[in-house]
Amino acid sequence: MSRVIRSPNIWDNPDVYEVENRGVDPDGVIEAAMREVRGWDAATVLDVGCGTGFHLPRFAAGGAARVIGVEPHPPLAKLARRRVRDLPGVEVRAGTAQALPVPDASVDVVHARWAYFFGPGCEPGLAEVDRVLRPGGAAFVVDNDASRSTFGSWFRRALPEYDAAAMERYWARQGWSRRSLDMRWEQPTREAFESVVRIEFAPELADDILANHPGTTVDYAVNLFWRTQ
Ligand SMILES: C[S@@+](CC[C@H](N)C(=O)[O-])C[C@H]1O[C@@H](n2cnc3c(N)ncnc32)[C@H](O)[C@@H]1O
Repeated sequence: MSRVIRSPNIWDNPDVYEVENRGVDPDGVIEAAMREVRGWDAATVLDVGCGTGFHLPRFAAGGAARVIGVEPHPPLAKLARRRVRDLPGVEVRAGTAQALPVPDASVDVVHARWAYFFGPGCEPGLAEVDRVLRPGGAAFVVDNDASRSTFGSWFRRALPEYDAAAMERYWARQGWSRRSLDMRWEQPTREAFESVVRIEFAPELADDILANHPGTTVDYAVNLFWRTQ
């Protein structure tokens, strides 16, 4: 199988990652920006690196006719399948971004959120996106904008060598557009907020973040990279 990128946050703590996902972007900023580029009413949507399938029912409820989640890590694919088992038109396939398990020109919308498409090295996945998109389709990659926001400052502390400007240049060279979006994490309790910070950062950094950041919310800038076919 092609290279699978270990994701300690969701691989080791799928339950807490579920809590995290529920608190991401409560105002729907990311989805609204995607819809401005291309909506998914009656469309076939492919969610690459779907994890436990959190977004699959959302695409279905949002009007997609068919939703296919692709996930290489078997325990997560199992959870995703369980989540969607009663949803007609929604399925989960084992596979990777580098070898998408769908035919050529069969997908209207590709979505990858915090999965595989982390800049240099993701070219095999980009070629696959080109292959599977239908004319008129669109592909979206959601990733951190480490150049700004409070969450961005935490991310830079975790990964000091991360070069946000180089990342932007990378996507521009691939012919993708970028929109930097302001969203937030909003958790129902301080306990939930602390638990999600602790699966995203090493213990010492998480302690420091939590000691200096009260409350249940944090502003969080993300990049929406996209291209149309
Ligand atoms: C941080 S999680 C995000 C999960 C999901 N997109 C979400 O937002 O809930 C990253 C996911 O990418 C998956 N992944 C790792 N390597 C991959 C690859 N080569 N192709 C596709 N997905 C991959 C991981 O197994 C994990 O489920």
